[in-house]
Amino acid sequence: MQTSTQNKPAGENVPRHIAIILDGNGRWARKRGLPRTAGHAVGSETFRKIALYCRNIGVDYLTVYAFSTENWKRPEEEVRTIMRLLNKYLREAIDTMERDRIKMRVFGDVSGLPEELQDLVAETNRISERYEGFQANICLNYGGRAEIVHAAERYAADLLEGKTEGPLTEERFSSYLYSSGIPDPDLLIRPGGEQRISNFLLWQCAYSEFYFTDVLWPDFSTDELDKAIEVYRRRDRRYGGVK
Ligand code: IPE
Ligand code: IPE
Ligand code: MG
Repeated sequence: MQTSTQNKPAGENVPRHIAIILDGNGRWARKRGLPRTAGHAVGSETFRKIALYCRNIGVDYLTVYAFSTENWKRPEEEVRTIMRLLNKYLREAIDTMERDRIKMRVFGDVSGLPEELQDLVAETNRISERYEGFQANICLNYGGRAEIVHAAERYAADLLEGKTEGPLTEERFSSYLYSSGIPDPDLLIRPGGEQRISNFLLWQCAYSEFYFTDVLWPDFSTDELDKAIEVYRRRDRRYGGVK
């Protein structure tokens, strides 16, 4: 379904970059007497809907946490189903990215994902290079600490090879993160009732505004997003200074 209409006026202090921790799928399913994996299936549809809505209201970047470096601890069957759903999601996204004008990038250690998924990630990256505009970043096999360590390793390697030089600045270090070139999230939303960061975007969230809600991710709606943006608009971002 193509939603080309502008649902809300763009530019009116709409966060440029929204990050969301997609949490609560398992509990959503359990409440309905369904297997946890049913929650993941509905959750992936919610992502599709929210991504299109973000594009329509003038958000430039949406970054979602879909599978963490710690989520491998889950039962094998659940992990397998999540990988299968990601496969399905990326396949469908490849077919519709052009039509929906959505650029996609994956943040995380892609080499640790099943091979078929790695190929799909490469394909979405290749397609994304072709256009400008709204960008969805999906964090897969992603951990904030792992990202920082990985960036430090890459910087050290470049330094040894003479490809970069000191002093190391925050800006230069940022260019080694998965989020290189992307502004930090303005608004970070966590549905599902937990009030913690769970190793998401540790570097990038230094000055993000946090919004927590008990709504479980599969139930998250465009109205919920509007509510979060409304709260965000009332926040006073001082960045350590005074007004
Ligand atoms: C988020 O939902 C999806 C992943 C972490 C893969 P959960 O599966 O964590 O759902 P809850 O928190 O158990 O309800
Ligand atoms: C965070 O949710 C990770 C993702 C949504 C991918 P979790 O459900 O894994 O986090 P915890 O265990 O509640 O901290
Ligand atoms: Mg959870």
